[in-house]
Amino acid sequence: MRRIRVYGEEVLRRDTSEVKNIDEKIVKLIKSMKDTMRKRQGLGLAAPQSGVSKRIFIALGKNDKIITFINPETLSSSDKDDIDMEGCLSFPEIFFSIQRAKKIAIKAYNEKGKEFIIEADGLLARCFQHEMDHLNGKLIIDYATDEEKKYWQERLTKLTKSF
Ligand code: NI
Repeated sequence: MRRIRVYGEEVLRRDTSEVKNIDEKIVKLIKSMKDTMRKRQGLGLAAPQSGVSKRIFIALGKNDKIITFINPETLSSSDKDDIDMEGCLSFPEIFFSIQRAKKIAIKAYNEKGKEFIIEADGLLARCFQHEMDHLNGKLIIDYATDEEKKYWQERLTKLTKSF
């Protein structure tokens, strides 16, 4: 299991690079990410949260199956926006209301290097957009209003002093 990096840690803001070769190191990383996500009961986890600046994320799909996304690309997203509360394993017990597209289609590669396209809506679509943000160094707090940030100030400060 890997320690999940939290808000304030620089790796969460770094640019990520494409996976050129799905070697043993990448396979091991993905396995440990899955173990970590299961243990922490998350819906998704991106490689930067495990301290690795690569374009990889995992998400809990239908039937409790974890889907792996390597070098994901957004093919399309609906413009019909939806606002909902959103959390993140890098922001334990902190939530922000975020507007996301209702539907999204993503193209990616799985652990075996096979290309696939997945379409999602609702919570899963929200999760995919959240994880894509992580790969671009974007975090849920970037969507927050000053009021929301003020509301969570104490927890946020505590978090940035926790590592
Ligand atoms: Ni997150």
